[in-house]
Amino acid sequence: MTSPSFEHWMKQVQADMEVALAHFLPEAARLPQRLHAAMRYATLDGGKRVRPLLVFAAGAIFDAPAATLARAGAAVEMIHAYSLVHDDMPCMDDDALRRGKPTVHVEFDEATALLVGDALQAQAFIVLSGGEASPDTRLAMVNVLAQASGSLGMCGGQAIDLASVGLQLSIEQLEHMHHLKTGALLRAAVLLGAMAGATLDDEQTLALHAYAQAIGLAFQVVDDVLDATADSATLGKTAGKDAADNKPTYVSILGLDASRALADQLCRDAHHALLPFGDKAQRLRELADLIVQRKA
Ligand code: IPE
Ligand code: IPE
Ligand code: MG
Ligand code: MG
Ligand code: MG
Repeated sequence: MTSPSFEHWMKQVQADMEVALAHFLPEAARLPQRLHAAMRYATLDGGKRVRPLLVFAAGAIFDAPAATLARAGAAVEMIHAYSLVHDDMPCMDDDALRRGKPTVHVEFDEATALLVGDALQAQAFIVLSGGEASPDTRLAMVNVLAQASGSLGMCGGQAIDLASVGLQLSIEQLEHMHHLKTGALLRAAVLLGAMAGATLDDEQTLALHAYAQAIGLAFQVVDDVLDATADSATLGKTAGKDAADNKPTYVSILGLDASRALADQLCRDAHHALLPFGDKAQRLRELADLIVQRKA
């Protein structure tokens, strides 16, 4: 169970993030209005905001400035929202429901959905490259987010996912896919939050990597479990889609019980990785628990 202080902190970050995203996205009244309306539709008013929460929780260890965290949180959430818009398109998972609303290509049209993703990706880097952090810090942050988004990160994972339909992947191949398609952006969120507050030494970098690696994988393991066990109304997206599409998932390869046990083990690994940071890492610990215990 989450503590009242964690709940309060989480709601505050989510509310601040909504304000920051609304501010950093082009206004809907600006031309081209339909594209801007669709970008805002895809990004605002929905989602758990797990990646921005990780940015702020990691930033808390290093007393990072709130304005830099808001930029990093908005940037990573824009990349994530773009990945969801494209993931739902007919050429990928062909989904009609996202965050409890019709998907962008259903509400608008396919070409708009494609452009929403493209434009959100560019907007993320506009946001991350601006602000008050030093030029060196901003360049390093842009590099981290670009690496996590590209062919060696999220996009690469999506490519493996699509190429794996109907295949019997080994557990190593599945783990690799999950580390890329979902883990990469979650890892970037943790690193961006920390980089906003400090230049990390090797020990800190290793510890944060170990934490992020564990929760990154756990997040997609739980996503696979929820796809197989929860209903569409709770998830805000179509349940049972992985099995229907013949996707290799932790559930299809390990089964439900072993998948849940793996998520619990990864949560313990995440806690262990945070030992060097002591009490300062409390929010990251609570987020690891949330990622594994979540019901949607
Ligand atoms: C869903 O991500 C897609 C995956 C990477 C598994 P989230 O579960 O974080 O989706 P939102 O942002 O809350 O809608
Ligand atoms: C999507 O994985 C991961 C990315 C969007 C990068 P899924 O296809 O499992 O995500 P959901 O279940 O549709 O949210
Ligand atoms: Mg997918
Ligand atoms: Mg999908
Ligand atoms: Mg899924």
